Amino acid sequence: MKKRSDRLVAEINQLMAKVTAGWNTSSPFMMDEYACLICNAYFRKEIFKSDLDVIEDLIVFFTSLASLKNASILREILKTTNNLSKNIDSLRLDSKFCQVLSDDLKNKLRDTHETKLTKDSRVHPIEDLPGEDYDDFYGKYARDLDSNWLRNAERLSALKIKKPSRILDIGCGFGFFSHIAKFNGHIVDSIDMPNASPILKAASEILKVKKYDFLIKPNTPLLKFKNKFDHVTAFQIVFNGHASKSLWDVDEWKFFLLDLHDNILKDDGQVTLVFNGEHKALKPIMIDGEHVYLGKKSVEQFFNPFFANKAKMAQRDNKMIAILTKKNIKEACHTSIFKKQSYSLDLVEGKYG
Ligand SMILES: C[S@@+](CC[C@H](N)C(=O)[O-])C[C@H]1O[C@@H](n2cnc3c(N)ncnc32)[C@H](O)[C@@H]1O
Repeated sequence: MKKRSDRLVAEINQLMAKVTAGWNTSSPFMMDEYACLICNAYFRKEIFKSDLDVIEDLIVFFTSLASLKNASILREILKTTNNLSKNIDSLRLDSKFCQVLSDDLKNKLRDTHETKLTKDSRVHPIEDLPGEDYDDFYGKYARDLDSNWLRNAERLSALKIKKPSRILDIGCGFGFFSHIAKFNGHIVDSIDMPNASPILKAASEILKVKKYDFLIKPNTPLLKFKNKFDHVTAFQIVFNGHASKSLWDVDEWKFFLLDLHDNILKDDGQVTLVFNGEHKALKPIMIDGEHVYLGKKSVEQFFNPFFANKAKMAQRDNKMIAILTKKNIKEACHTSIFKKQSYSLDLVEGKYG
């Protein structure tokens, strides 16, 4: 039986050690670079029975990077060959594996931390937080590209999308999620406010995110799109007047969700909302002696049936996530249990208020 030479096996093992080091240190660029290199430099020529362990590990690594297309090509090979036990004469990869992010894109994205700060860079005019420079808040998205990637990879994996889909990402920011979803064959439209932070604008341009400049306002419909969407996502939501005096109450959320229901979602569409709760450096929001993460008891009550359990959440988001389908949006929004309630909160006026 034909086998790979010991020299090449040793080379592959050395490269796999780098992929594993990337996994152990949460360094997705390193993992993706060497995982693709192994596939392109060795498996494009020939795949041998003895490559089974490597391929099984690569499937796990590609999946963690949200390089799901590459993972599924390898999975399909194992399936059709019954784990490389049959039909493996002249077996090889048909096409070249691409990295989720090329080195060129990585360097350009990293440099966005140097983008000139303007008044739009500011997130919250929160005073007295020692050691935090709020004007450079989004600089961390560029400086720590690895975490940015892994957080968005988890987000895409958590959606468990089975077929190429249309996705609308609201408040897309840096654009990493849109890029990763597009890389995996989905059609992605994105929305962000016209005066978003310059770093976010620069990064989403580098990533060629298909973005619409649109300011979401309470009780005002979203843009109209030609096609409807399978998924609407909004990660680390700020458009709801987050941490400002004009934080949305249930009525504003109902308007927003019903608009998604009527105009944006396909019949089997789904909405995934990742709420930006209170800031870790601020005092918890207490209402009537209760800790209220979403800032209003009524909003927390409204979303309560839709909060995803921890296992479904992207661990790196570590936030409250609500998942609604088109069907249960209608039910939730037409119930009369959730009357508008107002609370007196000592919140500061935010940029988006
Ligand atoms: C905390 S960032 C999250 C970015 C991205 N979703 C992520 O998780 O990395 C909030 C995003 O919402 C956008 N945004 C805030 N208020 C908005 C509004 N009223 N309409 C549209 N976008 C808004 C900001 O520009 C920013 O891109």
